[in-house]
Amino acid sequence: MDSKKESRKRIAVIPGDGIGQEVIPQAVKVIQASGAAVELTDFDWGADRYLRDQTTVPADGFAMLGRDFDAILVGAFGDPRVKTNIHAKEILLGMRFKMDLYANVRPVRLLDAALCPLKGIEPRDMDFVVLRENTEGVYTDAGGVFKQGTPDEIAIQEDINTRKGVERIIRYAFQYCERETKVDGSPRKKVLMCDKSNAMTHAGGLWQRVFKEVSGEHPRITAQHMYVDALCMQMVRDPRQFDVIVTNNMFGDIITDLAAGLQGGLGMAASGNIHPGRTSMFEPVHGSAPPIAGKNMANPFGAILTAAMMLAHLGMEAEAVKIEAAVLEAVRQKKTTQDIGGALGTREAGEWVAERVSK
Ligand code: NAD
Ligand code: IPM
Ligand code: MN
Repeated sequence: MDSKKESRKRIAVIPGDGIGQEVIPQAVKVIQASGAAVELTDFDWGADRYLRDQTTVPADGFAMLGRDFDAILVGAFGDPRVKTNIHAKEILLGMRFKMDLYANVRPVRLLDAALCPLKGIEPRDMDFVVLRENTEGVYTDAGGVFKQGTPDEIAIQEDINTRKGVERIIRYAFQYCERETKVDGSPRKKVLMCDKSNAMTHAGGLWQRVFKEVSGEHPRITAQHMYVDALCMQMVRDPRQFDVIVTNNMFGDIITDLAAGLQGGLGMAASGNIHPGRTSMFEPVHGSAPPIAGKNMANPFGAILTAAMMLAHLGMEAEAVKIEAAVLEAVRQKKTTQDIGGALGTREAGEWVAERVSK
């Protein structure tokens, strides 16, 4: 038996819609150039498939992913032809919810000072992570509409916060802080919980109580709190102060687009959707960007850095480090797409990184 083949990690690749179909092939090319021992299988889940045969997720799709794969690499979902966005909801939120991928890990790193819109911020100043609760909050779509289309219409969108859900993401944050170092090797020291407990007292109260309890078990880690509005202001005033941020599903969504802006834009941000010990899913933070789709313009680096994050998660640290170093070099040499100041297309930027990685 071929033992190398046996030890290969099995990756499901779901490019999805729009620029997902352009950036994921570049990430795949870079993974292959890195020599990582992986076996890649493509899936056509997305808007085209949905419009063709009304399938969003094939029967037992999530069970199959969990059983047959070690990780999932995803592009993005969202297509102007699918007004309801039902396929994105069922595929993307379906993976997060039904596979119980409760920790959405979104690192915020600055590769080069030139990419940050803030004055005087250097790469060493910005190396934090947002840990976003990924299975509840307002995303459960609990609620409903009453008297629709009348002047008395009522729309209710419930914010679901369970003791279990809040506790596990807060515990994940403290464990992450204990385990992970910054890129420069220095230890992480602070966990900041972000909420809106001054207005949303029921949900916020639970987050506050659980945070106090769990932080009490980690006396060596500095526990901090900020309301989400104040945090947005602080993030653009002085991102140096952040280390590990933990927050709910919706605030995590919003502040990670803001944080992406500080990294050079949505094209630079990576993420993982993780349940420790289970098949986890990795995707760039950006969406399908319909206006630039199909034009060879999309920045593939967010997807490539996401691939590196996935390989590191699967224990292939050396390959991950090689890929991150190649992206850093591409940024330094301006071998990039236009959104971050270069003149290359999606394919050419991906090709440059792949070539560098294979050296
Ligand atoms: P978006 O992230 O697609 O685009 C926001 C802006 O960033 C646009 O100006 C876009 O051109 C730019 N941008 C995004 N990625 C880029 C890249 N790689 N390179 C260069 N520029 C990039 O967000 P949106 O416009 O709000 O949403 C478009 C669609 O994507 C919607 O259907 C939305 O629901 C969906 N969406 C999906 C995901 C996902 O699948 N994870 C995430 C966000 C949005
Ligand atoms: C993200 C996206 C998704 C989210 C959308 C497409 C539902 O914005 O991954 O950040 O809100 O989680
Ligand atoms: Mn988002």
